Amino acid sequence: MSTSAERFDERARREASRHGRTVVHRGELLRHPVYTRVLHWLVAIFFVLSLLSGFAVYSPWLFRWLTPLFGGGPTTRLLHPWFGLAFDIFFFFQFLNWFAPMAWTAADRRWLRRLKEYTTNREKFEPEDVGFFNGGQKLYFWAIVVSGLLFLVTGLLMWFDNAVPRAWVAASYVLHDIAALVMLGGFIIHIYEGTAAQPGTFQAMTDGTVSKEWAWTHHPAWYAEVTGRDPRADYERARRQQLEQERAINMERSSSARADEAADERPLPPAP
Ligand code: HEM
Repeated sequence: MSTSAERFDERARREASRHGRTVVHRGELLRHPVYTRVLHWLVAIFFVLSLLSGFAVYSPWLFRWLTPLFGGGPTTRLLHPWFGLAFDIFFFFQFLNWFAPMAWTAADRRWLRRLKEYTTNREKFEPEDVGFFNGGQKLYFWAIVVSGLLFLVTGLLMWFDNAVPRAWVAASYVLHDIAALVMLGGFIIHIYEGTAAQPGTFQAMTDGTVSKEWAWTHHPAWYAEVTGRDPRADYERARRQQLEQERAINMERSSSARADEAADERPLPPAP
């Protein structure tokens, strides 16, 4: 990427961190700074607005339910391209921000080959070469890049349909709808992966931090890079400490239970 884009991104990050804070507690790592989080949620808001207003004008059945949210059919039709434009603009900034960590590598190709193991949760730990983003996250990002471009080009052709040949407009309707359906599928998987599938992930986009345990479990190469430590060794140490703590608690519980039993067995003092 050009250095002027990198310089812009650096400045934007610095500016955003002057207005918002990320508190990293003990045992946590910084995952997403303020700038990334603000962009992510702006993209998400305008994506959902575009999706709802788009499906409202796409399907006669959904029209009845969704258009009242935007003040009726004509306003929904009017607002939809503007929501889409805002989505594309904010995602463009996120693209500049994430371009480098989203570069496709040999580790991502290996990750894709193990997709079945990932989806069936056969392995608790990700392979040691999984960095800041895994292959699935990168695929989602690049699918948004392609869909975002398609939305923009086909959206403009449909918006200014009087100025372009009819065949282009007809093809735009089909491509726009296909991109929307692909994005809907990706969005559903993304919400599941970012919340229920992997506890501790959602916090990355709210507080901006993740626990070290989360990092060495899901992104071991990133954990090694930012801490300079061995993720497996740290996992083993944490596990040993936890087992020791559990053993100490159990011993304390059983010794106080024995003390209670001994007190119960002691003869009662004679009644006065
Ligand atoms: C509204 C519900 C959403 C939730 C709960 C959510 C949650 C998250 C979380 C927790 C992350 C951080 C993952 C990590 O650090 O490993 C993330 C990243 C990301 N989000 Fe979202 N997100 C939502 C909506 C969206 C939307 C609408 C888009 C774009 C259309 C989007 C695009 C991305 C991308 C490209 C990433 C980085 C790659 C990835 O983690 O998949 N998100 N999201």
